[in-house]
Amino acid sequence: SSPSVALNTGLQMPLLGLGTYKLCGLQDVYRAVDAALSAGYRAFDSAAVYRNEAELGKALRELLPKYGLTREDVFITSKLGPKDQGEKAMEGALHSLSQLDLDYIDLYLIHWPGTQGLPVADERNPGNRAQSWASLEELHCQGRLRNIGVSNYTPAHMRALMQSCKVPPAILQVEFHPRLCQPELMSLCKEYGVCFQAYSSLGKGELLSDPVILDVAKNCKRTPAQVLLRWALQQGVPVLPKSSNPERIQRNAEVFDFTLSDTDMDRLSALDSGQRFCWDPSEVA
Ligand code: A2P
Repeated sequence: SSPSVALNTGLQMPLLGLGTYKLCGLQDVYRAVDAALSAGYRAFDSAAVYRNEAELGKALRELLPKYGLTREDVFITSKLGPKDQGEKAMEGALHSLSQLDLDYIDLYLIHWPGTQGLPVADERNPGNRAQSWASLEELHCQGRLRNIGVSNYTPAHMRALMQSCKVPPAILQVEFHPRLCQPELMSLCKEYGVCFQAYSSLGKGELLSDPVILDVAKNCKRTPAQVLLRWALQQGVPVLPKSSNPERIQRNAEVFDFTLSDTDMDRLSALDSGQRFCWDPSEVA
């Protein structure tokens, strides 16, 4: 069984999930999902903008029986695209459900605080987010979105959401790695009872050649990717490594059988420089 964390809905989420960004085409998705299920992954993170929801749904339906698993054994995440933020949110979420061909999605996130087609500073952004959230709440109450949450929200976006929501977010998913430790968002999540989840733990692959990470990896006889994933997990942060390569998918799952020393944890955390490899949401109104 795969290690998991309890969310504020009372439901469990695996600590390790496969990121599926850039996986496209049934063959690619099928091969990655097969490798992941075989390596023990029980969570899969997709999004409307990844354009692979249909392929992920189909791959899982076909591959779960091979591993003696059923729908209930896996945790499927998808996200509302920025083009559907606002009045189209209900339609967007229902489209994800139909693309995945599922009765329910385990976790559905607002992918980005902004709205496609609006300037980042546009004052309609907050209203659109509130409207999207209300649609997600409605589908949550109907049981079609078992957990709902947000991604790429700043502390200001989070505070506004917490003040106005009926159902609080179960998850905040943001970029998180030793060069972007996100202390403010982490402590807000703790205060609000929201689970803080990492994406791009490997810095889009670019952190794998960082000399400090290479040194820690060498000393503990692990791969740099395993060290980066373990650094997050040891802080209680669930991770979503993404790879299309079956061998790397397997290696990235071998993160529950070793511990980084406090010294190594501190060495890694000292790399925090606020550097982002992905888009910065801080200008979004
Ligand atoms: P690939 O799909 O060829 O394995 P992030 O999750 O931080 O965005 O990083 C994902 C990137 O890191 C992808 O380009 C992926 O490429 C690469 N990657 C994932 N796991 C590993 C690994 N164990 N070793 C080297 N590169 C990896």
